[in-house]
Amino acid sequence: MRKTPPNTTPQRKLPAPAPKLRTALRAWYHAHCRRLPWREEPSLYKTVVSEFMLQQTQVETVLPYLDRWLNKFSDFTALAAAHEAEVLKMWEGLGYYRRARLLHALARELVKLPKPPRTREAWLELPGVGPYTAAAISSIAFNAPAAVVDGNVVRVLARLLGEGRQFKDGSEAVKFFTPTADALLDSAHPGDHNQAMMELGATVCTRRNPLCTVCPWVNHCAAAARGETEEIPRFVAKKMTRIEVTRLWIERDGR
Ligand code: ADE
Repeated sequence: MRKTPPNTTPQRKLPAPAPKLRTALRAWYHAHCRRLPWREEPSLYKTVVSEFMLQQTQVETVLPYLDRWLNKFSDFTALAAAHEAEVLKMWEGLGYYRRARLLHALARELVKLPKPPRTREAWLELPGVGPYTAAAISSIAFNAPAAVVDGNVVRVLARLLGEGRQFKDGSEAVKFFTPTADALLDSAHPGDHNQAMMELGATVCTRRNPLCTVCPWVNHCAAAARGETEEIPRFVAKKMTRIEVTRLWIERDGR
């Protein structure tokens, strides 16, 4: 008998046929999605920059930075030609500066290629691009059949399936739900489907006080049927560690 490798699970059974879920999600997304710059006039460059900014940062925070960035560096060529100091300056305030350095390195790699890659696997080879970003970019910009699974998607799927198990952390939950996300992916519209899943998690299937009455999946959602939305997904509580950092500011001769 084949052994199931650790941390992988077979695809869970969906509570309704996948085509029915996909159609309801897509209709909801087209009627209710937020108008965001990378959706209004999409381009590969906007998709890549926004996905880098959105790693660890919420949409509302990203918007003014993205606007400034696109005015300063209009495309991959402009970004590749910029000095690192200028790039970091434009990122100032967003935090996690490693993302800015990697985005700069990515632009420098992309301008060397005859054409940008189109598949998840090829994007994974590039600087700063992990599984989540590779799936997001390849599906949104090239309609590649790659499902994204982030915290929002985990929450949506855990509730839809009524999955009550406790996860050690987010990455264990991502691994657990990846086969389900793949099975649910709308391969005719993977970019819209992925954005719809993230949008549902960010705006309706929220961590606290989810807006189940306006959810396109409420009639199929196991957690909603059991009144358990706020308890799902479950994570082991993070251990808090107190760290004290002493800093000194030394002035001498007015400097
Ligand atoms: N978070 C990460 N990528 C996103 C996207 N394309 N739309 C909304 N939220 C996101």
